[in-house]
Amino acid sequence: MANTEAWGSRVGLILAMAGNAVGLGNFLRFPVQAIQNGGGAFIIPYIVCFLLMGLPLLFVEWSSGRFGGSKGHHSTPFIFDSMDKKKFWKYVGVFGIFTNVAVAAYYCYLESWTLSWMWNSISGTFTGQTQAEVATYFGNYVSLEDGAGNFSWMPIFFWLFCLLLNTWILSRGLSGGVEKVAKIGMPLLIIFGAFLAYKAITIQAGSEGATFDGVVGLNFLWSPNFSSIWEPKVWLAAAGQVFFTLSLGMGSIQCYASYIKKKDDIALNAMSAGWMNEFVEIVLGSAILIPIAVGYLGIDQVVEMTKSGGLGLGFMTMPYLFEQWGPVMAVVAGLFWFGLLFFAGITSSLAMGTPVMGFLQDEHGWKRRPAAWAFGGIVFLLGLPTVLFFNQGVFDEYDYWAGTVSLVVFAFLEIISFAWVFGMDKGWREITDGADIKVPLIFKFIIKWVTPIMLGLLFIASLIMPESGDWGASFSAIFSGEGWSFSADSIIGKIMNKGINADIANALTPEDLAKLTEKKFYINISRLGLLLLWSGIAYLVYHAYKKRIKEGRFTS
Ligand code: ALA
Repeated sequence: MANTEAWGSRVGLILAMAGNAVGLGNFLRFPVQAIQNGGGAFIIPYIVCFLLMGLPLLFVEWSSGRFGGSKGHHSTPFIFDSMDKKKFWKYVGVFGIFTNVAVAAYYCYLESWTLSWMWNSISGTFTGQTQAEVATYFGNYVSLEDGAGNFSWMPIFFWLFCLLLNTWILSRGLSGGVEKVAKIGMPLLIIFGAFLAYKAITIQAGSEGATFDGVVGLNFLWSPNFSSIWEPKVWLAAAGQVFFTLSLGMGSIQCYASYIKKKDDIALNAMSAGWMNEFVEIVLGSAILIPIAVGYLGIDQVVEMTKSGGLGLGFMTMPYLFEQWGPVMAVVAGLFWFGLLFFAGITSSLAMGTPVMGFLQDEHGWKRRPAAWAFGGIVFLLGLPTVLFFNQGVFDEYDYWAGTVSLVVFAFLEIISFAWVFGMDKGWREITDGADIKVPLIFKFIIKWVTPIMLGLLFIASLIMPESGDWGASFSAIFSGEGWSFSADSIIGKIMNKGINADIANALTPEDLAKLTEKKFYINISRLGLLLLWSGIAYLVYHAYKKRIKEGRFTS
């Protein structure tokens, strides 16, 4: 049965695409990346990466999606196949299903926390709690404990509810489900965000317990630091953020775009959704978490707190800081903050569901509802370890391989496929066909040369990043025969388990040693699971291809 999904309206499509991009990354990941990379030092590399990699890749993904869709394909393996017949590209397309499913597996758990924290804000869980108590509550929650040493079902309940909600909305289709949520969620998110941003930047030192003005945090972020242009680490962080926030290199943009009609505009649509994401990220994303946290805690403490990741500030610190605004505002701000995060999250996780559904509908003739349940089922199975073994590092491991490395690998291969195999002349026609704006010709050059070179460098740098972080000294060390020492955060360092091995070697007590050894086990099992997932999808693609040949349904 043909896949007859379609978007209901242009505004619905743009809001759904913007919702796909606007996610938890805009409010939790962006500010933390900025803080960890020196505030103003981050902004210039971020903007350059957005212009030279983000925008070009948006054009590439939207136009490949519409091209594949016009030939009846709605998932990247066969979208790529319709662009070039070499078998290899179908398997590159596997990433476009894999990444969505694997990211959804941990993302939906995170999304379920926002629901739970909304509930906590209404029910007054945090009323009167100290900062340490809110942090302990969070620690217990992710350990599935109730605080008295008993097992707590609450995280599992909210997670299952969140999965069911996603599955139900997906089963209602693009115009009947996804679009409706985007039309309600995006405006609410902006209203909630604008209110919180106003509160944040009007914080005054000495009033409501604040130590600094809200603008101190904003100034920290927005005072550009030109010396950062020479720091590879900052570039890697900026590029990673641009990918994650725009949902590039995932396969979900191509899937959404494959349901656009052949002659419909993609250039203006891509710009509208992309810039809407940047508005939310740069304006709202920078105006809430950092100004509030810095207003109460100061820059140094906030920098220290984000060293172990961003979730702490969002879930442990914010509820405590909202309490300083009085009992009514604490509830309102909690609802707005976690409500905003929820809408940001769900409009992104819905997009992660559509590629696998498109694949099952196109290749196996599945109906929409069973396809949505298949997605829900896979995310349940794959996500369960992130819920049960959060403290053992499963969540972070998924985030690293699926939410970071995979995006760059896929984006690099897809831009090579688009600009060099499909061909830039054909590619440019796809981008500009039906366009409601004139796309500057410079993008033709950027897509062919600049973006692939930047992506290639980015990948190599992530692969072999040196331990010292000093590239010059590391190259000299090679020539003086000392070899290359990989950073624990480099891809090779991760594969070698450098970080966890060092922690194990430095464990101070037998309990720590046992915990870390257990963690290493879970990390390696997670990787194996992800590898199996990728291989399983590749097998399904192979099977679908054979089926097409047998049925005489050729893939162009
Ligand atoms: N683009 C989504 C986010 O920012 C995945 O969270």
